[in-house]
Amino acid sequence: MKALRVGICGLGTVAQGVFRVLQDNADIISRRAGREILISVVASRTPKPDVDLGGAVFSTDVFSIPAHPDVDVVVELIGGEDAALRIIESSIEQSKNVVTANKAVIALHGKKLFQSLSSKGLCIGFEGAVAGSVPIVMSLSEALAANEYDLIAGIINGTSNYILTAMAKEGRSFDEALRAAKKLGYAEADPTFDIEGIDAAHKLTILAAMAFDIGFHYEAINTEGISDITLADIKYARQLGYEIKHVGISRRTSDGIEIRVHPALIPLEHLMSRIDGSMNALLVHSNAAGDTLMAGPGAGELPTASAVVGDLIRIARGNISPINIDLGSPGRIVATENITSAYYLRIPSLDKAGVFARVATILSDYDISIEAAIQQEQIKPGKDDQDWVPIVILTHLVQEKLMIDAIRKVQDLPEVIGPITRIRVEQLDQ
Ligand SMILES: NC(=O)c1ccc[n+]([C@@H]2O[C@H](COP(=O)([O-])OP(=O)(O)OC[C@H]3O[C@@H](n4cnc5c(N)ncnc54)[C@H](OP(=O)(O)O)[C@@H]3O)[C@@H](O)[C@H]2O)c1
Repeated sequence: MKALRVGICGLGTVAQGVFRVLQDNADIISRRAGREILISVVASRTPKPDVDLGGAVFSTDVFSIPAHPDVDVVVELIGGEDAALRIIESSIEQSKNVVTANKAVIALHGKKLFQSLSSKGLCIGFEGAVAGSVPIVMSLSEALAANEYDLIAGIINGTSNYILTAMAKEGRSFDEALRAAKKLGYAEADPTFDIEGIDAAHKLTILAAMAFDIGFHYEAINTEGISDITLADIKYARQLGYEIKHVGISRRTSDGIEIRVHPALIPLEHLMSRIDGSMNALLVHSNAAGDTLMAGPGAGELPTASAVVGDLIRIARGNISPINIDLGSPGRIVATENITSAYYLRIPSLDKAGVFARVATILSDYDISIEAAIQQEQIKPGKDDQDWVPIVILTHLVQEKLMIDAIRKVQDLPEVIGPITRIRVEQLDQ
């Protein structure tokens, strides 16, 4: 059989990994794919003479790849939105299948792309776009396809998980942990996408579209990052039997589909609480298979390249059946204020008799019951010689809008001397 000829756009971390994997595992890959997979052309902004391109021709014109006569399949690895979208659209116009690791472009333009792919009978591989080498895309679309999905939840941003782990295990502050993440190459110079949850929300948009037939609705996701998490919260959460993790959650409920990205207290006995460092993990609850947990490196040169080359092998075998995504309607997404969750609250208050009772009364007025509480024995010296203590409360399940109203009332108490911290508690059950 003729070799599958690949044109790659980009020559950065992942693209170089794709070269390495295809070179190092050439024999295994040809055997499994049933034919050779050769990179015929690579295009990127800057030439990189030190990279071994094998026999591939180099160009600085990324937009020439889709129409290149020696290219059967286009691999988009430049990242970002506009240029990447243009490359993918132009590949579809050229009737070429595409592979990408770009979650932003799929999450934000998935509807348009899937419509044009299906009108042309083409496929797009995007296993590398979600959780690196963890095979969640193929699991949802093939291995678990017999199931109705109830819950997809996971740690899907390695940078945030690295930072929270460094805080929890090494006692580093958020800023120190972020600096370490940058030094190790886990965080970009501008880490906003990772630490504010945007990257995780892109990935969750894709997973929810695949699992719940709601279409691509990045704009509907309630997205919160980790920059307000403190060492104190991590310590109190531990005392209460939880680890703080940054998670993406999409769940089927009787009101519709929940879809949200935020820090959460995860029970210490749940395996998810032990996914540390830059690792990713995904829990899928489905009606026949039950709970499936997958974990692995969520990013990096070779793990992401492994996923990209896996997609190429599928295409080389002739398996170009599209991943079926019902483009759905947003009507079934539950507004965040209507979700039900338990909450961790940390309330900085003056060290005066009766404050806890006043807080408890307000919560009870909103039908919010307290599951556990820590009243700090260690008094912190405050301004104007007034000592203060954090009151830490774990609530039972409550509707989010009630929780927010109750917090406003507690915040207005004269004894409450700083902003209240609120973090959702997730048991990760259905
Ligand atoms: N890195 C990971 O661990 C990882 C994991 C999962 C998914 N991904 C996704 O994989 C994709 C690639 O990521 P990466 O880490 O490999 O990025 P990267 O290291 O920054 O590489 C991007 C490459 O594309 C080139 N490029 C960028 N914009 C271009 C443009 N407009 N025209 C021409 N060339 C352009 C860059 O050229 P220069 O060399 O001149 O900058 C560079 O060679 C992204 O969508 C990313 O989200 C990455």
